[in-house]
Amino acid sequence: MRKKIVAGNWKMNKNLQEGLTLAQELDAALKGKQVNCEVVIGTPFIHLASVANAIDTEKIGVAAQNCADKASGAYTGEVSAEMVASTGAKYVILGHSERRAYYHETVGILKEKVLLALENNLTPIFCIGEVLEEREANRHFDVVKSQITSSLFDLSKEDFSKIVLAYEPVWAIGTGKTATAAQAQEMHAFIRKTLAEKYGEEVAENTSILYGGSCNASNAKELFSNPDVDGGLIGGASLGVDKFMPIIEAF
Ligand code: G3P
Repeated sequence: MRKKIVAGNWKMNKNLQEGLTLAQELDAALKGKQVNCEVVIGTPFIHLASVANAIDTEKIGVAAQNCADKASGAYTGEVSAEMVASTGAKYVILGHSERRAYYHETVGILKEKVLLALENNLTPIFCIGEVLEEREANRHFDVVKSQITSSLFDLSKEDFSKIVLAYEPVWAIGTGKTATAAQAQEMHAFIRKTLAEKYGEEVAENTSILYGGSCNASNAKELFSNPDVDGGLIGGASLGVDKFMPIIEAF
């Protein structure tokens, strides 16, 4: 059975103290509570070690939002997958549209990042999604398929089974304009079919595919009730326990 996951992506928000407080509040809110999904928080690099030390990482997985495309060495300002793993983080968000658009992450770079993440036993949460013009031109399926095949389909079946996917239509990110439950289901089913064609039904059935883009307490239940939507990657609504908990509890 594939995992249900609700993952927060804090993006570039919260200083260290604020981040620690948020993580500890979430930890406290989840204490003694039975939830039906895995909970992950994606923090800025500088928070990773402190957050991982301050919370029960069996209950809340910690994710980095990026890692370097090089293993180590003279790359000023970069943070390697090995360094991320050494903090206690278990996940890394890769291929987010903001990184593709603002930091020019190409297919080649993303492939390296995925490999390094896997070598260091980090689970990549790999993001894909079309921009508005692509959807309006009815190219969204082609775009998403090519994002998946170009960066991930050189992986062995064993390695691919360690990937979590997040479908984030760019037009829905931070805009308040969520994909409808039907649009999300349609794309997630298409993604699963694409995976089945390459890696077989079993791998496709076991891959968690999250939805991201203005997911919040009022639409999470409807989105998550779709058979191919296995959870969410949540931006704005992960920045407060009051907003994030209802999404976790939507399962
Ligand atoms: O990675 C999460 C994301 O891009 C969605 O952001 O703020 O629309 O939930 P938001």
